[in-house]
Amino acid sequence: MEIKEKFSGIYLIDNNLATINSAPGFKPFGEHTEVIDKKEYRFWDPYRSKAAAAIIKGVKEFPIKIGIKILYLGAAHGYTCSFLSNIIGNKGIIYAIEFSERCFHELLPICEKYKNIVPILADARKPELYSWVEKVDVVYCDIAQPDQTEIAIRNCNEFLKEKGWLMLAVKTQSIDVTKSTKEITRQEIEKLKNAGFEIIDWKILDPFEEKHSFIIARKV
Ligand SMILES: C[S@@+](CC[C@H](N)C(=O)[O-])C[C@H]1O[C@@H](n2cnc3c(N)ncnc32)[C@H](O)[C@@H]1O
Repeated sequence: MEIKEKFSGIYLIDNNLATINSAPGFKPFGEHTEVIDKKEYRFWDPYRSKAAAAIIKGVKEFPIKIGIKILYLGAAHGYTCSFLSNIIGNKGIIYAIEFSERCFHELLPICEKYKNIVPILADARKPELYSWVEKVDVVYCDIAQPDQTEIAIRNCNEFLKEKGWLMLAVKTQSIDVTKSTKEITRQEIEKLKNAGFEIIDWKILDPFEEKHSFIIARKV
């Protein structure tokens, strides 16, 4: 079995993405795991996670690293969060915002095992409701709303450190069904530039997620 470290804490095992499980034996999404040299690897499915899809599509930077702090908007039931949790380790922290009570309920058992995830039931449009959250290195936004870029920018203005990173999943159909994924992504990129972000890279996520793109930007 060939193992390559693609980015810090993210491995390619025979061309499949994986992280090292920080709670060995725990596989909350029925994911495939493999023990190699006494480490348990969890396989990370690009069809279920836009961050994983962006890596497979060849994004050149991936700002999630060991020990960092993340504000995650739209945690849902925690699939992607659980892998980011493995990467950042126990010195890092994820503040996971989710406004659906049903999803939040499913997120809680993940946070019990991966203790660096702090679940917060709140609307990402109202950052004043979680103003106690500290400054973070990365704002990760995947909320599939028409004003998702504006919401992401607002949260970055409140919580992102200087030179911090924004990782933005864009569901282009939520914004305008009449335009192509590329056109909408360019439009959202302009909004980010006007708000003082440098665009580091972006990818269209098909075939993993149709009509989605993923933007990695940095506050300058
Ligand atoms: C596409 S799903 C996120 C999937 C998740 N990021 C993953 O990869 O595992 C979008 C989530 O954002 C949540 N959401 C949408 N608008 C929101 C808002 N304004 N505040 C908080 N959560 C929101 C939805 O309830 C949903 O769970």
